[in-house]
Amino acid sequence: MIAKFQMPNNNTPEPQAVCDPISRSAIFLTLTVARGEDEAAAVREWCGEIAALVRAVGTRAPTAKLSCVCGFGSEAWDFLFGAPRPASLHPFIEFGSGERRAIVTPGDILLHIRADHMDLCFELASQLLDKLGNAVTVVDEVHGFRYFDLRDMVGFVDGTENPSGKSAANFTIVGDEDEEFAGGSYVVVQKYFHNLRAWNALTVEQQEKIIGRKKLSDVELGADVKPSCSHSSLTTIEENGQEVKILRHNMAFGRPGAKEFGTYFIGYARMPGPIEQMMENMFVGRPPGNYDRLLDYSRAVTGGLFFVPSADLLDALPDRTPAAAVSASPSSAPRREATRDGKLNIGSLKGTPQHE
Ligand code: HEM
Repeated sequence: MIAKFQMPNNNTPEPQAVCDPISRSAIFLTLTVARGEDEAAAVREWCGEIAALVRAVGTRAPTAKLSCVCGFGSEAWDFLFGAPRPASLHPFIEFGSGERRAIVTPGDILLHIRADHMDLCFELASQLLDKLGNAVTVVDEVHGFRYFDLRDMVGFVDGTENPSGKSAANFTIVGDEDEEFAGGSYVVVQKYFHNLRAWNALTVEQQEKIIGRKKLSDVELGADVKPSCSHSSLTTIEENGQEVKILRHNMAFGRPGAKEFGTYFIGYARMPGPIEQMMENMFVGRPPGNYDRLLDYSRAVTGGLFFVPSADLLDALPDRTPAAAVSASPSSAPRREATRDGKLNIGSLKGTPQHE
């Protein structure tokens, strides 16, 4: 049985393309914004131009399903737009230690550009960055591709347990629990590099126990053989007895010549708590020490949490003035208690959860 939250009502603003279907290609851009008034004004202006650029590029090849999702980091939100701020937006929380660590890296704006053809992603990325000019610096750029039958770089089908349809919207789109930001979403990204030589030295059976599914058929391992430290076990979480899902659009990327083999993790949720709980389970372990063995072969080299405003709010952001903002901002103090109390903060959503 899957937890369902109260559906966004008819007046909920239009979300960005968070729940769009899986694509063949994607470009992930992480940007920082120069801390000046002119630069902030340029970014605000640009927010109102994104939708028109997506239309201009995408209409030339409608079947390629071009889309763009734009999110903002916690500190950037205050600097660019001020109060009010999204209720659950805070800096990315780090988990783990040593080699096995979910690190935070700089990032004010995230662009998740998707299409079935890379040329469209490339063209839109170029146009968006051209408009921003010197107001931003690109701190990370990943060009992702679908690998065979929706496999990630470790060779397993990725995305099977994603929610779909109305359920995807329920798990990812903010409702009346934060009325001013309804139609928005939260997104976590992490760029992972894999030690493929070591991974491929494992037997298929060993790899399957690490992921929790059969490699060829993608069928989930039976409860009698699936270890509690498998990736699928540790990322399956419940709140009040109901499973809480997130929506992932991971992509493979890499440069064989540089021996670089990676998976770009991108997960959307209605609030950050579920994704943070999954990361804690993976990096620290459930219980602590019972961590995700995928991390013995995969290293996170970036990490960021962003709020994705609704499409309607994104269009209206040029009219924001940040003056009232910064003093009340919690942005500099990571709210680790969001997961430390053992709750995902889902139950605090306004409106009683509805169950199937
Ligand atoms: C190295 C990076 C990662 C790789 C290669 C990877 C790969 C996979 C694969 C192959 C599956 C099984 C098929 C599926 O249901 O999609 C899976 C499931 C899943 N992963 Fe990951 N993943 C990665 C990182 C993460 C992270 C960082 C999170 C969350 C913070 C996460 C959350 C999930 C969830 C929620 C599921 C579905 C579990 C279930 O319901 O069975 N993954 N992942």
